[in-house]
Amino acid sequence: MIKPPWIRRARRALLATVATAALSAGLLTATASTSQAATQGPCDIYAAGGTPCVAAHSTTRALYGAYNGPLYQVKRASDNTTRDIGLLSAGGYANAAAQDSFCANTSCLITVIYDQSGKGNKLTQALKGQWPGPAEGGNDNLANAFEAPVTVGGHKAYGVYVAPGTGYRNNNTNGIATGDQPEGMYAVLDGTHYNAGCCFDYGNAETTGFNEGNGTMEAIYFGNSRGWGYGNGTGPWVMADFENGLFSGVNTRFNDIPSVSHRFLTATLKGGPNQWAIRGGDARSGSLSTYYSGVRPNAPGYNPMKKQGAIILGIGGDNSNTGAGTFYEGVMTSGYPSDATENAVQANITAAGYNSGSTSTGTLTPGSRISLKATTDPCCTTHYLRHNGADAKVTISSINSSSPATDKADATWIVRAGLANSSCLSFESANRPGQFLRHRNYELYLKTNNGEASFANDSTFCPTAGNSGVGTSFKSVNFPTKYIRHYRFGAYIASNGGSNAWDSTTAWAKDTSWLTASPWS
Ligand code: AHR
Repeated sequence: MIKPPWIRRARRALLATVATAALSAGLLTATASTSQAATQGPCDIYAAGGTPCVAAHSTTRALYGAYNGPLYQVKRASDNTTRDIGLLSAGGYANAAAQDSFCANTSCLITVIYDQSGKGNKLTQALKGQWPGPAEGGNDNLANAFEAPVTVGGHKAYGVYVAPGTGYRNNNTNGIATGDQPEGMYAVLDGTHYNAGCCFDYGNAETTGFNEGNGTMEAIYFGNSRGWGYGNGTGPWVMADFENGLFSGVNTRFNDIPSVSHRFLTATLKGGPNQWAIRGGDARSGSLSTYYSGVRPNAPGYNPMKKQGAIILGIGGDNSNTGAGTFYEGVMTSGYPSDATENAVQANITAAGYNSGSTSTGTLTPGSRISLKATTDPCCTTHYLRHNGADAKVTISSINSSSPATDKADATWIVRAGLANSSCLSFESANRPGQFLRHRNYELYLKTNNGEASFANDSTFCPTAGNSGVGTSFKSVNFPTKYIRHYRFGAYIASNGGSNAWDSTTAWAKDTSWLTASPWS
């Protein structure tokens, strides 16, 4: 079979790496790999360690030094056409500008996360498996392409934001471990985005989408579920999902592992015959800690394992889809990687330079006065977010230069550092000092700050890149799947699909995207 040029280049790079590794007498140190980071990706390091990648997924960067293919595909709502998003250069970072221009003035979903390993193990929309049940509907959702902005090495990129209901899968893979075969995997995740639902996973799962019994999956889990295993503190924890159980160690319930919530988190899992390990660390600096390394759990059915070799992202093996998290990159290997190899991969990840996406746009500076303009056309592009007096519901209404002064003032806000989180924002009324925009029962009101923690939480919103690719969206700090949204001219916090009428997926991305405009008063 003729291999594509990037695979031939990767093979040459790999041979050079193996030679280097041999010369250094197997000392694949973190220092050495940091200096190699510009030319090597994590999969070159795994290959040099004798445990090559058989799946390599990322929406942010190349995972081989020579990879120059597509990272992921987006589909835009305006005409349902798709576009592959590639790299700025071979072995480099995602071309986020290609997404920005293709998705301008509409919304985009991530439809495919390509496999860089050459094995064809791409991830696409997870179809209905055992779950969701009949009441919850059919296939899983696709991720909004703008919901997880980051910078990597100073370059803008987007991660995969998994709100509950979102899931990707491949049930027909090539080269992934089955049975009790050894494998390894890592994922770089947002350690601040999680929940206790089942199950935000990345890794090996059933090929059927159904629960096939103990030991039929082996995937990284991240979240604060206490439904099965758990660790110290309140979570979240990096655990292993082996089916019918999340495991933090050899015991089925508590094991002495730490809660970890680095903004960027490296999580690893590896498993072979009666042996497995979970490790983790800060994806921006430092080394990996070993949370557990030892024999298979004290429960029947997990030794030997019966891995089936599908790949899941964001869901459990039976397609349970109530988990939440954010994924930036991850791989699966053939063979049980050594700790030294994983340490070198961690050094490569920290050298990549993950950082939070920009959260301040121009005038969104505490102390400044702004008006917030709706972006949904044709209904609302002359409309602004406004209050209608203390305790009254907040709405949008059309404001122009000849509007009454009261209307203009009601549509003007003073940006404040977030009352519950100073890296986010709160909005104080310009004409009613001490009164803030807050939600209650998911509807927005103007209310006097009573100093209570619940008020602070309900009035704090974190700015993110606009969910439609335009302007800014404002995520509720205490309901992070919900954003400030206008719906039928009322104002709410809304998720993209949910139980309230204003969670409607129709026009959600546009309704939650706002332009920061000059203040009307
Ligand atoms: O093992 C935990 C979860 O249990 C699996 O992800 C899912 O398949 C089952 O519901």
